Amino acid sequence: MGTIAKLENVSKEYKVGDQTLIALQPTTLEVREGELLLIIGPSGSGKTTLLSLLGCVIYPTAGKLWVEDNFVNDMSQSQLSRVRLNTIGFVFQNFNLLAPLNAEQNIAMPLQLMGKSGKEADKKVKGALELVGMTDRKNNLPKQLSGGQQQRIAIARALVTDPKLVLCDEPTASLDKDSMGVVMQELRALAERGKAVAVVTHDPRLKQYAHRIVEVNNGIAKEVTDF
Ligand SMILES: Nc1ncnc2c1ncn2[C@@H]1O[C@H](COP(=O)(O)OP(=O)(O)OP(=O)(O)O)[C@@H](O)[C@H]1O
Ligand SMILES: [Mg+2]
Repeated sequence: MGTIAKLENVSKEYKVGDQTLIALQPTTLEVREGELLLIIGPSGSGKTTLLSLLGCVIYPTAGKLWVEDNFVNDMSQSQLSRVRLNTIGFVFQNFNLLAPLNAEQNIAMPLQLMGKSGKEADKKVKGALELVGMTDRKNNLPKQLSGGQQQRIAIARALVTDPKLVLCDEPTASLDKDSMGVVMQELRALAERGKAVAVVTHDPRLKQYAHRIVEVNNGIAKEVTDF
């Protein structure tokens, strides 16, 4: 199946004061349809940095990055926001739910941004709520939900547009073991139905759900072949 994202010697540096911090060393990687790619590694190793590059949230410092045939290096912020809206579903490490909107409205947000409303949109939102088992809490504001429930709403919001590339930053961190299994099974099934799914975690128990694994240590990303 096809390649959705491609990194060629992509690195990311941050300037902090007069210091330069290398968050990601030059990395070459492909993310393909039909695969759940697990990105694993300790805290501060560069996992979110790698995911944010794939998600067109940040630009590479060096190297070449393509997402869905778009050459990210040369694109404007507004072009990138269109790629994010049309191609990518992102579950952020801190959920990023909009506080004044209830669960259902949060999930509907990307469809609204796409100019989609009415029966078809309602049906998609309903399906996404069902998928994460949150139908009965659809009228709740984020602050009225537990961390795990907010995480499930964030997952539903990422999937509601049916994106080709699904990126999840620690999607199971706030979930108990059973909910974790349900979410990971669903993400793996999604991949097997043809999507490209990348999941960031520091939890080795998630390895069993992966088709491929990349381990990040101190900014160095390496593919793991035996797991
Ligand atoms: N915007 C930023 N400005 C400066 N440094 C940053 C920035 N974002 C990340 N870093 C640094 O880059 C390194 C990698 O950060 P990153 O968030 O990718 O780690 P991570 O593997 O996701 O960690 P965690 O598991 O704790 O979420 C860290 O040293 C971090 O402090
Ligand atoms: Mg992180």
